[in-house]
Amino acid sequence: MSLNFKSQLPQLDGIFDALFAASEVIYAELKKGSGLKFATSSNESGDDQIELDVIADEAFFETLKHDANVRYVVSEERPDMKRISDGRYSVALDPLDGSKSALVGIPSGAIFAIFEDAEVAADFNGSNIVSGGFFVFGMNLEAYFAVGKAVYKGLFDADSGAWTIQPIEGGMPSADVLAINGQNQKLWDTWLQRHYDELLDPKGGTRKPYNMRWFASMVSDMKRMVLQGGLFAYPSANTKGYEDGKLRLVYEAIPMAYLIHAMGGSSTNGDQSILEMPVEKLHQKTPVFIGDKAKIEAVEAAKKAG
Ligand code: F6P
Repeated sequence: MSLNFKSQLPQLDGIFDALFAASEVIYAELKKGSGLKFATSSNESGDDQIELDVIADEAFFETLKHDANVRYVVSEERPDMKRISDGRYSVALDPLDGSKSALVGIPSGAIFAIFEDAEVAADFNGSNIVSGGFFVFGMNLEAYFAVGKAVYKGLFDADSGAWTIQPIEGGMPSADVLAINGQNQKLWDTWLQRHYDELLDPKGGTRKPYNMRWFASMVSDMKRMVLQGGLFAYPSANTKGYEDGKLRLVYEAIPMAYLIHAMGGSSTNGDQSILEMPVEKLHQKTPVFIGDKAKIEAVEAAKKAG
């Protein structure tokens, strides 16, 4: 592992080293085919785990536990906060996002966020985040992340064991692509059903219909958004277990929203920016809409119109 990345916050250097080192371990396991079967366990949110979920969670804890700047590590796969030291920064992880898709060869990944001065669950919010992003375990091992307003892409070269980190510049792309699982469509709020119809079948012929893409792997759908733009949505639905959608606020929504905001995009739960939402508990779910500013304004306007 060789990572020559220094952000504007030197205390994060060791944390990035740890995160990137763990991603290499997980990617190597995934390429071997290890852990690609269901485990007998489920996680804190009641999702069935595959064995690699557990391997990934352990890989991150193993590398992060040696850094004196890390106060807590919290993970979608664990019920409680784990105190590491009295350091200033805490790390939140979805150690293997899109694991069910990994079972059929779709790129999965890991999502991370670094928070400053977090002591209780409520502190893992959009005001305290200082870095967020994700790894993609696909054709290559890649990272997309932001520190402040700076956005980066990392690419791992397995032959040399070195990462190349480059800035992503040029702001937020704006392709008219919609990433959503339409299965619960009839159970969405009426405003969303209308908005969805309008995106795919615009009235008045003023623009082309949106294209539709859904990997069922948030990291893959968000990689497309970083490179091409679009609207990613996981809304609530009027059915048990989906009252607040499916995605976790701390482990998935806030880190992804942070990255897209850094690129000049935006996010909402329908009413307010995901970065302004209060956090009540670590494993809380939220409806998620992330995209360029115009698409997010249109979502909020559609909800207001009812
Ligand atoms: O949170 C896990 C996750 O797999 C995300 O990566 C993805 O966006 C979503 O769930 C897929 O959900 P569904 O299986 O409902 O399409």
